[in-house]
Amino acid sequence: MKIDYQLKPQSERRSTPFTPEENVGFGVLRTDHMFLMDYENGEWSNARIVPYGAMDMMPGAMCIHYGQSIFEGAKAFQHEDGEIYTYRIDKNAKRLNRSGDIVCIPNLDESIQDQAVHALIDVERLWFPQQEGACFYIRPFIFATEDRLSLGISNKYTFCVMLSPSGAYYANGFNNALRLLISKTYHRAVSGGTGASKAAGNYAASLRATQSAAEHGAAQVLYLDSTNTKLEEVGAMNHFHVRKDGTIVIPEFTDTILKSITSESILALGDVLECEVRQETILLDDFIADIESGEIIEAGGFGTAAVVSPVGSYVFEDGREVIVGDGEVGPHIKRIYTVYTDIQNGLREAPEGWLRKVERHHK
Ligand SMILES: Cc1ncc(COP(=O)(O)O)c(C=O)c1O
Repeated sequence: MKIDYQLKPQSERRSTPFTPEENVGFGVLRTDHMFLMDYENGEWSNARIVPYGAMDMMPGAMCIHYGQSIFEGAKAFQHEDGEIYTYRIDKNAKRLNRSGDIVCIPNLDESIQDQAVHALIDVERLWFPQQEGACFYIRPFIFATEDRLSLGISNKYTFCVMLSPSGAYYANGFNNALRLLISKTYHRAVSGGTGASKAAGNYAASLRATQSAAEHGAAQVLYLDSTNTKLEEVGAMNHFHVRKDGTIVIPEFTDTILKSITSESILALGDVLECEVRQETILLDDFIADIESGEIIEAGGFGTAAVVSPVGSYVFEDGREVIVGDGEVGPHIKRIYTVYTDIQNGLREAPEGWLRKVERHHK
């Protein structure tokens, strides 16, 4: 793929490494440029890297009205050799296309997505925060741009990749276990719906539930399936729990659960974590009984942004609360977090192909 580099003049671009004094926060900052590509007449074309800024879009653009919009979230890390490495970006490319299949957005070749991400990071490498625990948060997305008010599948799309230089997600240490609301009122997904995609509308649909969690003093929602019997996801993360024997259990992937790349990675890392990691259908009643009996000792969420979010307790809508273990961040979760972030940061060997160096092509 030929990329047209329409960069800002050197004088307006970052010319020295980014050395912030304070934690830069997660997802707050932007770099100087973004990658764009258009879909029209059945094909993707016009790959370009341009200054980050407002985009032209007609008020009738179909993403606004009918929600054809999908996205991904990935990370890249700087290792001790000074080079930047993307983490499992091939999985994100595959998942963007899977999300596209679910909301009728045309696929974009995975190798093109891969090249887009690497080319943009190459141009922006001076933006990598020189700060412990930092990363580039990578946001690839596709949205429908055809100006048409009759409902149907758009014939035009834009693919964009933007980068957010981000600081450590847990800036003040990894010590806060969350309270989750078990909602029987709100659901994230139904069988035959769009729950297994990162479609923008899924996240709009989750906001009211999150608001309800806050009203119960909870940080997030533990979503159940629509029959209110099985555990599904937590906020925008996969759910997991740890049993007394150290086994990590993640709900089986179904068409109502997003296939988390963090979960898939943890499933592959059993040997390194020295424990069994498995997936199964988890019934709410069994889950609560096992917490109360002490069979389940830790629980939390897996996702790219935070890696692991520990859960201290679950509260029902009637106010009943169930505490996991002693309600604090447990040793298994701390170990998962350390092993996982060490792999990402190049401090522990990564499985073949998980980390890919961003080559220096662009001066
Ligand atoms: C609904 C949902 N579930 C789970 C995840 C975790 O997936 P990953 O580990 O690939 O970030 C995310 C975030 O991408 C999400 O939005």
